[in-house]
Amino acid sequence: MGDIKDKVAIIGIGCTKFGELWDKGIDDLIIDSTYEALDDAGIGLDQCEAAVMGTLSSGLLTAAPLAEALAFDNKPVSRVENNCASGADALRYAAFSVASGMYDIVLAVGVEKSKDMGSGSLEAVGTLHPVTTIGSAPAAFGKAAVRYCEQYGLSREQLKRTLAKIAVKGHYNGSLHPKAHFRKPIVLEAAVQAPLVAWPLGLFDCCPVTDGAAAAIVCRADMAKKFGEHVIIKAIGLATGRIDPCKGKYYEDRDITFFQESYTAAQQAYDQMGIKNPRKEISTANIHDCFTITEFLLYETLGFSPVGNAKPDVDAGNFTLKGDLPVNTDGGLKAFGHPVGASGIRMIYECYNQLLGRAGPRQIKDPKIGMQLSQGGMAGHGMQSLCTLVVAGQ
Ligand code: COA
Repeated sequence: MGDIKDKVAIIGIGCTKFGELWDKGIDDLIIDSTYEALDDAGIGLDQCEAAVMGTLSSGLLTAAPLAEALAFDNKPVSRVENNCASGADALRYAAFSVASGMYDIVLAVGVEKSKDMGSGSLEAVGTLHPVTTIGSAPAAFGKAAVRYCEQYGLSREQLKRTLAKIAVKGHYNGSLHPKAHFRKPIVLEAAVQAPLVAWPLGLFDCCPVTDGAAAAIVCRADMAKKFGEHVIIKAIGLATGRIDPCKGKYYEDRDITFFQESYTAAQQAYDQMGIKNPRKEISTANIHDCFTITEFLLYETLGFSPVGNAKPDVDAGNFTLKGDLPVNTDGGLKAFGHPVGASGIRMIYECYNQLLGRAGPRQIKDPKIGMQLSQGGMAGHGMQSLCTLVVAGQ
């Protein structure tokens, strides 16, 4: 297998404010994020030879919403839908189309008006078997939390308190970012005592339902210098799981406390870049935290903490802005918000800003490698996981 290392640079990036954006349409979000990215790169839209849109639910099942919003007529525009990895996958396709030599400069946009879908995600998925059914997203991840307690001998109250620390971290980091959906820090007891959504997950353990868009301009790495500050893509891994034909059921042989597809996607990326010890070598990670338990389990899945033992790392604050591996420095899905198709590029936006020293009050010291990990679906039920590693370009 080949690799993408050092072939493609990100020369401009943009992100809208995330939140309940009732006064914005899909087109506004695409335009705002794209023009911020173009301004950052110092180029015009006419210099982009192709575009890829990542979204779950915007408009008809074509790339027309992007072409329409930008009046990007008669150009190669594609649409990628890969659940919560849609935005990251749009960037991946944009990167591959540059790496292939087909185009020099390509635009990737991730967008979602999740609030327009009219609901959160509390609907049950599939059949209602008491043990194997998936249920809603919070129920599925709540079940993984309960399973974790049984598997590793933690009381549910102990785990709930540790998860609350991840919520406090997310809301604190989000309070430092002007574009985050939630900008108010919370205290530990507020998270522990919050109304339950799906045991043990309460309101502050969940990401919100959010609107927003993020855009990135990629180009051939050997051209990047002339566009000023940029980052270089070092690795991309993608793994997709199977969905049980009896829709709505878990594969019963899977460990739902370990995200196999995310492990595989991250390993692909680590191997491409030669990373042996991610905990030591990654400087900052922006990873999928649809629920606090998701982030907790990803610490173990991605090799940041030993399997079955992330709790001491969380309790010690090792993943906070002051820790040795700051995770979700902009508040993550939890506080920055989760417009499904936009989240992957939003994560890259934060990596980019951290690596180029532009993260303001969230800036971490001397970052070398930024990591992005998007994860769609649920453990044991066909996940889509995508991992990207980036470094500052010279
Ligand atoms: N975290 C913190 N606060 C939240 C929140 C969240 N996830 N969701 C809503 N709130 C706040 C709102 O800002 C509002 O505060 P206010 O009263 O001070 O204005 C209050 O809680 C009620 O908001 P509302 O929109 O009525 O909440 P809701 O009950 O409709 O939705 C959830 C709450 C948790 C059900 C919803 O956010 C949700 O479904 N989240 C999960 C989304 C998801 O699963 N995505 C896919 C992941 S793979």
